[in-house]
Amino acid sequence: MDALATVVFIFSYVFSLLRISTAVDTITVNQHIRDGETITSAGGTFELGFFSPGDSKNRYLGIWYKKVAPRTVVWVANRETPLTDSSGVLKVTQQGILVVINGTNRILWNSNSSRSAQDPKAQLLESGNLVMRDGNDGDPENFLWQSFDYPCDTLLPEMKLGRNRVTGLDRYLSSWKSADDPSKGNFTYGIDLSGFPQLLLRNGLPVEFRAGPWNGVRYSGIPQLTNNSVYTFNFVSNEKEIYFIYSLVNSSVMLRVVLSPDGYSRRFTWTDKTNEWTLFSTSQTDECDNYAICGIYGICKIDESPKCECMEGFRPKFKSNWDMADWSDGCVRSTPLDCQKGDGFVKYSGVKLPDTRNSWFDEKLNLKQCASLCLSNCSCTAYANSDIRGGSGCLLWFGDLIDIRDYTQNGQEFYARMAASESEASSSINRSSKKKKKQVIVISISIIGIVFLSLVLILYVLKKRKKQLKKKGYMDHKSKEGENNEGQEHLDLPLFDLDTLLNATNNFSSDNKLGEGGFGPVYKGILQEGQEIAVKMMSKTSRQGLKEFKNEVESITELQHRNLVKLLGCCIHGRERLLIYEYMPNKSLDLYIFDHLRSKVLDWPKRFLIINGIARGLLYLHQDSRLRIIHRDLKAENVLLDNEMTPKISDFGIARSFGGNETEANTTRVAGTLGYMSPEYASEGLYSTKSDVFSFGVLLLEIVSGKRNRGFSHPDHDLNLLGHAWTLYIEGGSLEFIDTSIVNTCNLFEVLRSINVGLLCVQRFPDDRPSMHSVILMLGSEGALPRPKEPCFFTDRNMMDANSSSGIQPTITLLEAR
Ligand SMILES: *[C@@H]1O[C@H](CO)[C@@H](O)[C@H](O)[C@H]1NC(C)=O
Ligand SMILES: *[C@@H]1O[C@H](CO)[C@@H](O)[C@H](O)[C@H]1NC(C)=O
Ligand SMILES: *[C@@H]1O[C@H](CO)[C@@H](O)[C@H](O)[C@H]1NC(C)=O
Ligand SMILES: *[C@@H]1O[C@H](CO)[C@@H](O)[C@H](O)[C@H]1NC(C)=O
Ligand SMILES: *[C@@H]1O[C@H](CO)[C@@H](O)[C@H](O)[C@H]1NC(C)=O
Ligand SMILES: *[C@@H]1O[C@H](CO)[C@@H](O)[C@H](O)[C@H]1NC(C)=O
Ligand SMILES: *[C@@H]1O[C@H](CO)[C@@H](O)[C@H](O)[C@H]1NC(C)=O
Repeated sequence: MDALATVVFIFSYVFSLLRISTAVDTITVNQHIRDGETITSAGGTFELGFFSPGDSKNRYLGIWYKKVAPRTVVWVANRETPLTDSSGVLKVTQQGILVVINGTNRILWNSNSSRSAQDPKAQLLESGNLVMRDGNDGDPENFLWQSFDYPCDTLLPEMKLGRNRVTGLDRYLSSWKSADDPSKGNFTYGIDLSGFPQLLLRNGLPVEFRAGPWNGVRYSGIPQLTNNSVYTFNFVSNEKEIYFIYSLVNSSVMLRVVLSPDGYSRRFTWTDKTNEWTLFSTSQTDECDNYAICGIYGICKIDESPKCECMEGFRPKFKSNWDMADWSDGCVRSTPLDCQKGDGFVKYSGVKLPDTRNSWFDEKLNLKQCASLCLSNCSCTAYANSDIRGGSGCLLWFGDLIDIRDYTQNGQEFYARMAASESEASSSINRSSKKKKKQVIVISISIIGIVFLSLVLILYVLKKRKKQLKKKGYMDHKSKEGENNEGQEHLDLPLFDLDTLLNATNNFSSDNKLGEGGFGPVYKGILQEGQEIAVKMMSKTSRQGLKEFKNEVESITELQHRNLVKLLGCCIHGRERLLIYEYMPNKSLDLYIFDHLRSKVLDWPKRFLIINGIARGLLYLHQDSRLRIIHRDLKAENVLLDNEMTPKISDFGIARSFGGNETEANTTRVAGTLGYMSPEYASEGLYSTKSDVFSFGVLLLEIVSGKRNRGFSHPDHDLNLLGHAWTLYIEGGSLEFIDTSIVNTCNLFEVLRSINVGLLCVQRFPDDRPSMHSVILMLGSEGALPRPKEPCFFTDRNMMDANSSSGIQPTITLLEAR
């Protein structure tokens, strides 16, 4: 009897092994999958088995694409309870439950079904769905359990993202901790039902990105998401379910949406030709997509600088923070609401609707009823259509409005409640006439500015004359104090005395030296209150005279921007001149991008933020600051990094400021850094904002490639970095240009776009180069870019060769004439 049982057992065991090794897609009660065995879906697309992710040694049961290498996992069963060895087995129990057990028969994971089955079978479907069904059940779609109900970080076509309102089942994506660890990471992406339902990407509990409510056609917060040649998508909301779903147009295309460990949701398609995943699109496109970046009642406008504006009739809560680009406190009403007296509304169009977690909706009301409903409830702050198709449905907000942004297309409308006086004032002004008004204001300010500057100039010339007269005469032996006082008179910023700085920097000890800037050494210091500072000592031998010093001090004090380094004060002591800046713990950009070890610290997302940050800083200098400033010495060494790797442009020592419409000037003093100088500036001393654009282009290409333009060499040719970039670009080989340390983290779409923008910036003729404003637009958009012509690189190379005797990057002065 026993022997017979053993024989039967061995037979059935061998039989089950045989069946599994011949690529079946189903397992039944008597079969199991051991580590090393797999099953494959009928069409051969997906495979189920045990695997180890990344560098991990742990074993997990998962589903991946069979034909794709490296292995791309779409679902993991025991993500929180890994096996530490290869003893794992997957079984189907009599009741129709899937279990993963380890070598000591401990259940590490089990599927959870609400009812039991007579003849349970687990099957891996061609969609990537692992389902449990009852063989006796006539309805093959009646699953006892399915893996699509328990998503990990990947959303596949036909998978529902959302909730079952009856059972309460919530299907949401949750990121892996890291590429090596599939356990639940910090980020989740799913539908939130408080108020009008919306799709939220959270980092823990706080919201990171709001795809926004569904407006009948699309998500309010992903205007770029539309039906296309690869997939269509749909949103279903009824009393049973609410979910979002993608469907493929051609079922042989492979599409996956992934929530990465760093909190980005990206859509990829597989390209057979190149054998790789191609980024199809992303939901989070720019900084304005960061949740509530402008605080309450603020609107984010990505094309403007600064990005944040208060809504009409609102002002920054803390003006000084707001001006320093800290918008988190948001805005407050200029005129309080008065519900008794009656309020009105101001219409906003082309925007992303505010956060609807504090909202109420009724799909049967129309807009007019909606308005009067809002007006009748004193705590209602705004209203809008909930469905834009027929302009129907009513959505009411209660409490503060937050996370609003501007869109160039596919934006929506809403009406914000305002005090009666404010709403009348605003509603009589059109968007277009408002623009005109703005233009008029800008023009008047410019005119006033020009007049003012001319006056200052005249006064300055007069004063200089007087001084010269004085010098010739009895003032010849003018004391140092006198000079000191004169320096202070002009400056509207804190003056430090030398003793404070000597204390702070330990008498300028060499241990405190941070480096050698363009004009002299820079030291780290700690003030008595504990504040860290960087002290720049203008070397006595440097060519920078008092004129440049004042120039730098004055131009920097004027400027306040998140991407510009902040000047805290200065010190003039006899001939010593020192500048005191905020201390940047991460030093300068060149220390990272050109260093093969540290370059790993800056992955692509960080680099892209840095590129955008530098561009914004530069735009601010060129366009938005009260004075137009041309930096003239933009380079990696002059981009400092704060704690969060936010780039800050520094060193305005040779910046020239000028007002009004003047955009080009000629100088007899050419100062700048080889490798970054535009041809017209290097050879003719002609500079304009477009010379900075050139330097920016060089810097951008350096950030992408991790190589310096100056001193670049390549075994195959004699071109410099710009020439190399161009050659690869026209040969379609731009991938080769990308720094190897970012290849794994990079968003190909963004990188290729950046290279294209970089090449446009380094065009030979200034007119062919884009303005910083267009650079920012081009980096942030998804539209087609102009094709660059051959950039300027040969002459630059020749110039560089003549001067490349030393390895360091001196800021040089080519010509000096007086
Ligand atoms: C199985 O899991 C249990 C609990 O995690 C553990 O104590 C045991 O050592 C594991 N057995 C093997 C063979 O890994
Ligand atoms: C299994 O389902 C029951 C009810 O259906 C639920 O209470 C329980 O939390 C579920 N367990 C797991 C591990 O999902
Ligand atoms: C996840 O959150 C933890 C704790 O807040 C934090 O230490 C960790 O750095 C976060 N990871 C990521 C990728 O943000
Ligand atoms: C997208 O395609 C789906 C399926 O064909 C359709 O139901 C839906 O209405 C389309 N959406 C838009 C915005 O065209
Ligand atoms: C679907 O895509 C495959 C391969 O990409 C192609 O061969 C096939 O013709 C496409 N089918 C349709 C209906 O477009
Ligand atoms: C106003 O709306 C809020 C939220 O829906 C509700 O709690 C409150 O009762 C309403 N007040 C009045 C006066 O209708
Ligand atoms: C608003 O602008 C439109 C055209 O842009 C014009 O026809 C209309 O009269 C303007 N209304 C007001 C109140 O200025």
